[in-house]
Amino acid sequence: MAVARIPDPCIIVIFGASGDLTSRKLVPALHNLQAEGLIPDETSIVGTARTNYSDNDFSTELREAIADHSRILPTDQTWADFGRDIHYVPGDVTDEGLWDDLKAKLTAIDAERGTDGNRVWYMATLPRFFPVIAEALGKSGLLDSGGWQRLVVEKPFGTDLSSARELNGVLSAYFAEDQIFRIDHYLGKETVQNLLVFRFANAIFEPIWNRRYVDHVQITVAEDIGVEDRAAFYEAIGALRDVGQNHLLQLLTLIAMEPPVAWDADAIRNEKVQVLKAVRRWSADDCSNVVARGQYEDYRAEKNVDDSSSTETFVAIKLAIDNWRWAGVPFYVRTGKKLPSKATEVAIHFQKVPHLLFAHTAVEKIDPNVLVIRVQPDEGISLTFGTKVPGPEVNVATVDMEFDYETDFGSGSPEAYERLLLDCMNGDATLFTRSDEIEQAWEIIDPILDFWRKGGRPGTYSSSEWGPESAHELIRRDDRQWRDPRTR
Ligand code: BG6
Repeated sequence: MAVARIPDPCIIVIFGASGDLTSRKLVPALHNLQAEGLIPDETSIVGTARTNYSDNDFSTELREAIADHSRILPTDQTWADFGRDIHYVPGDVTDEGLWDDLKAKLTAIDAERGTDGNRVWYMATLPRFFPVIAEALGKSGLLDSGGWQRLVVEKPFGTDLSSARELNGVLSAYFAEDQIFRIDHYLGKETVQNLLVFRFANAIFEPIWNRRYVDHVQITVAEDIGVEDRAAFYEAIGALRDVGQNHLLQLLTLIAMEPPVAWDADAIRNEKVQVLKAVRRWSADDCSNVVARGQYEDYRAEKNVDDSSSTETFVAIKLAIDNWRWAGVPFYVRTGKKLPSKATEVAIHFQKVPHLLFAHTAVEKIDPNVLVIRVQPDEGISLTFGTKVPGPEVNVATVDMEFDYETDFGSGSPEAYERLLLDCMNGDATLFTRSDEIEQAWEIIDPILDFWRKGGRPGTYSSSEWGPESAHELIRRDDRQWRDPRTR
């Protein structure tokens, strides 16, 4: 991964610039990078979308958005530096005129700001335009500007294995693999990066990080909000494609991978791919026992949702990793909206003690140790262990060893998009998903989508429940239960 180095000046061209992602995440991230001196002042932004803005309309709207969504607020002084490099070119990506207009604008900025033909092409549009944009960039000569060219692709990357392969095919006709940056914003989160540091910067965990000591692993990405104003998008996607195929499987790879031979993009991604290859592909028969889907109670009443929708807003899967390290250790993963709390965590449940020593005492059972890595919120790590309750009797209570990011490091960690945009400008793809990784992930997900297509409906759940009853049955079948992320 990159050490803090300042990238070359470049122009970031954002397609779909009138959308929420631009105003809530991308431009605040760029603003903060510039405010902290991590990117050169000459870095310029060119937004494009169909809305008919002027440079000034666009930049005024962005200043307000930054004030609302950024961890660093714009001042008149920071805005004087940052705002003057914001531009807008209206147009439709299916209209040939757009590419000439863009070329004229970018050439003028290169001349004025010394951005040397360097480009980040950021696709924040509806996914159906990704191939259209890549092809137009290739054919219009815009990639021949004399500097480096990098393409950022937002998720979802395809909707199944065949569409992901097709998209990889189109992109690779115009960009080399090391120019393609497929975003999974989870990888930009500090606490997600820390999964690797925690595992490989500490000698004591690795020896027990395997089937001899680990009973099972639970990975949860839970949200307490519903689909909000994204229902039109979500209806066609559902929880499995929206979060399961990417964020959940990415967390799984970081927890389960072997130590990479080096701290670089290819070494790390090679190991992640090995994990995905080892994840068992479930058959349709298996799916009825190892997959559960749910829909929150009022989902069908949401605007833009079909009143007989069977889109899942919750999914739980039991995954098996068929390799020497993890054979026989189930990984239970779940994600959902409108759950009792927002919580992303990984819980490593260790095996119980082999023999209960405390005969003739009040101790009837001892809880196994659980290592919980809280990705968000309340970022931190805790380890439970048994301890003697003070007093004349032998009695064991479960207590916690606790690390809390905010206590140790203070608040104000950079946002995921800050890290990812900076890495992209520096050409470091470690925290981005490689084409084979994406395709392996879809290979795991596709059989589940096929199984659901055969019929049935998700079970409903209320916002006070952790998913539908089928999710609890899934884990109870193995004599286990889901951890409540609110337990500390
Ligand atoms: C996005 C999904 O990728 O991740 C959203 O499309 C989800 O549906 C979001 O809400 C969750 O991200 P975070 O960073 O809030 O956990």
